[in-house]
Amino acid sequence: MKILLTGGAGYIGSHVLNLLGQAGHDIVVVDNLSTGRKESLLYGRHEEFSLEETGKLEELLKKENFEACLHFVGSIIVPESVEKPLKYYQNNTTNSLNLIELCVKYKINRFIFSSTAALYGDSAPGGICTEETQVVPINPYGRSKMMTEFMLEDTAKATDLNYVALRYFNVAGANVDLKIGQCSPNSTHLIKIASECAAGKRDKMAIFGTDYDTSDGTCVRDYIHVDDLAQAHVDALKFLEKDAESAVLNCGYGHGYTVKEVIETVKKVTGVDFPVGIEGRRAGDAGTLISRAEKIREVLGWTPKYDDLDLIVRTAFEWEKQL
Ligand code: UD1
Repeated sequence: MKILLTGGAGYIGSHVLNLLGQAGHDIVVVDNLSTGRKESLLYGRHEEFSLEETGKLEELLKKENFEACLHFVGSIIVPESVEKPLKYYQNNTTNSLNLIELCVKYKINRFIFSSTAALYGDSAPGGICTEETQVVPINPYGRSKMMTEFMLEDTAKATDLNYVALRYFNVAGANVDLKIGQCSPNSTHLIKIASECAAGKRDKMAIFGTDYDTSDGTCVRDYIHVDDLAQAHVDALKFLEKDAESAVLNCGYGHGYTVKEVIETVKKVTGVDFPVGIEGRRAGDAGTLISRAEKIREVLGWTPKYDDLDLIVRTAFEWEKQL
């Protein structure tokens, strides 16, 4: 299939690009390399520009007969979104609007969107989120992504476009071959930061908040290996090709770990101890976010292979050491 993939040099986009490239698809990546790395582009042709450059984007879509669009470009750091909301509405909402509009214009009727568990905020009872859980994001990041989901839902009703919105839970780890991994500069991601400590790149880290309503007072998240998440995109593409309908699906394993449990696992797997302080809650953090994970298995036939926190941590650490 001829595919447009935005954000292919980034963490998740590069893992999806790897699988789609291995499957023999013809891929063009649009990525301005603001957070991604050129070395992560293992397949496809690269066009280096920003989605804000709508003239260049339209030229590309006019020239190529894309059959599907996978849209990864976006800003993803929750606390930054609280500080700089308009950056998030620009990158995640306005740029998506322009892209969706061009997809409709050039009849690219299969669209896969990187959505997020941040849409649920604190609304799910016990933090267990089904796709029917009310979306009530509690930070600008989640709101900016929610608006794009709404645009897709309404556009799918009004046009021939079908979409799959994948609501990512906490993506972590690295490709088991260690060719690609989490490379975003200044990452705020828990497993990345703990791996940096274990690899000797940071002296210490902190736990943000120990007064949440959880087993040990720290936040609970559903950590999913990046290659399982990447496979969900491959499955979603097959679904759009075959069924020509839309779906909104959670991407998680259906169980979670506290921040303390994750840090202990990093210390155990790597054999490295490092200092961990305690700080207050981080702005925009929900207490517990765990996926109800049945629907994606039913709809896409998705079968995860790496539901193992030790393995997730080991790949993250091995990647970090050789970065
Ligand atoms: C992550 C994603 C977000 C996604 C969300 C869905 C990133 C950067 N963010 O957000 O895009 O929508 O999952 O659930 O990938 N923590 C510490 N100390 C640290 C770093 C983190 O205690 O140094 C804690 C945080 O307060 C939080 C947990 O660890 O409770 C996970 O944080 P993080 O890895 O940043 O992910 P989320 O904010 O959950």
